[in-house]
Amino acid sequence: MKIESTAKPAYRIVNRLAIDQVAERARLISGLRAPHATIEPKYFYDELGCALYAAICQLDEYYPTRTERAIFQSFRGEIAEAVGLGGTFVDMGAGDCCKALSWLPYLQPTRYLAVDIAGPTMETSLANMAPEFPEIDMVGLITDFSEQLELPAELVDGRTTLFYPGSSIGNFTPANAVKFLRQMRRYATNGLLIGVDAKKEKAKLDAAYADALGVTAAFNLNALRHINREIGSDFVESRFKHVGQYNEALGRIEMHLESLISQQVNIDGVARSFAAGERIHSENSYKYSQAEFEAMLREAGFTNVRAWTNPQQAFWVFWSS
Ligand code: AVI
Repeated sequence: MKIESTAKPAYRIVNRLAIDQVAERARLISGLRAPHATIEPKYFYDELGCALYAAICQLDEYYPTRTERAIFQSFRGEIAEAVGLGGTFVDMGAGDCCKALSWLPYLQPTRYLAVDIAGPTMETSLANMAPEFPEIDMVGLITDFSEQLELPAELVDGRTTLFYPGSSIGNFTPANAVKFLRQMRRYATNGLLIGVDAKKEKAKLDAAYADALGVTAAFNLNALRHINREIGSDFVESRFKHVGQYNEALGRIEMHLESLISQQVNIDGVARSFAAGERIHSENSYKYSQAEFEAMLREAGFTNVRAWTNPQQAFWVFWSS
C-alpha cells in the first residue's frame, strides 16, 4: 500500500526571474559604454558577492547592520506590538534571511515570503530555517524588484507586512525610493517595517565603505567578475581599485571602480578605453535624517509613521501604515 505523505513541504521556491535577458544585457552594455560608465548594484550579488556582503555586515567599520539589530533588540516588544501577529511577512531583499529570522518567533506569521534576486543564498537559508518553523508556510520568491515590484497575488493574499531592513532603500535615488515605497505600499496592507541609515559625520561613513580589511573593495571588484560572466567582457579586477566615499553635498556614499592604468576592455566585441583614473560608478547609498525619510514615507502615501533609533541616532527604524 502506498502511503501518501501529508506533511507540509519544508519550503518552496517560486522563480519569477522573468528577466528579459536581451534587454538586461543591452542595459548593462550601454551603461559600461557610456561616457560616465555605470553598473547597477544588483551585479554585486552573485553567490560570492552575497558572501562578501555577509562579511561586510560583520566588519567593525560597517555599523548599519549592527546598529539596526541593536534597535530591533531594544524595542522588540514595542515594534512587535505595532506590527501585530499573523499574516504574511514579506522579507524584501532577504539575502541569507538572518534579519527576518529574529522576528519570526515574535510576529508568528502564517507565511514567511523571502524575496531576493539571488536564489542560491536564499534557498540555502530557507532550507536551514524551515525545520525550526514547521507551522509557517516558508516560501522563497526569486525576482528582480529593482525596476518594478511584482508579488504574485496568491502569495500576498490577506494581511501583509513588508519588511525592508538594512537601509537598502538608500541604494535607490530619492525619487526612485519614493516610487518604490509607493509600490511597496500597494502590498503592505498591514504596514511596512523599514531600516534607514542616518546622515552622520563623513569620517565614519567613509570608513564604513572603505574598510581596512578590504572586504568592501572585494565586494565592489567582484562585480567585474560577475559582469565578465554575464556578457563575456574581459575586465581584469587587478587593473581597477575600489573607491567608497561620502559625498556630503548629495548626502550619499558613492562607490566607484577606478581604472589604475590606461587600458582597453572588450565589451561585447567593441573595445572600451578607460583612461588612468577614470571611474565606473557602481553604487549610491543615500543617508537620510528622520524628517527627510518621514516626508518620503508620507509622499508615498503612508499616513501613520513611528520611528525608533539608537542613542547616537546613527540609524532609524520606521513602522509605517
Ligand atoms: C545593501 N546595501 C544597503 C548596502 C549599503 O550599505 O548601501 C550595500 C553595501 N555597499 C557597500 N557596503 C555595503
